[in-house]
Amino acid sequence: MFRSLRTDAPARVRVLVNGHPVEVPAGQSVWSALALSGQITTRKAALSAQDRSAYCAMGVCFECLVDIDGLPNQQACLRRVTEGMQITMQTITEDTKAEL
Ligand code: FES
Repeated sequence: MFRSLRTDAPARVRVLVNGHPVEVPAGQSVWSALALSGQITTRKAALSAQDRSAYCAMGVCFECLVDIDGLPNQQACLRRVTEGMQITMQTITEDTKAEL
């Protein structure tokens, strides 16, 4: 579905996406890494719990929020992957907010 347009062979880093190890090119955005690994859902909508994903890819819309290394509300389109990063789909909804 998605592929990188880079023709050189950049170094690769290993990250965990929803608990699954994925190897992606170093220097990619977290959202790009998600897309290259075939996982494009970043979070559940807070009210409707519908799947959401990146929309603007430039830090404006906040549709791409994910958990990164246990921290929620990280913009996947602005963060770059680092070795060992743990990226998790964010599931803060009206139901889970009551538990927090
Ligand atoms: S995709 Fe719009 S802020 Fe990340």
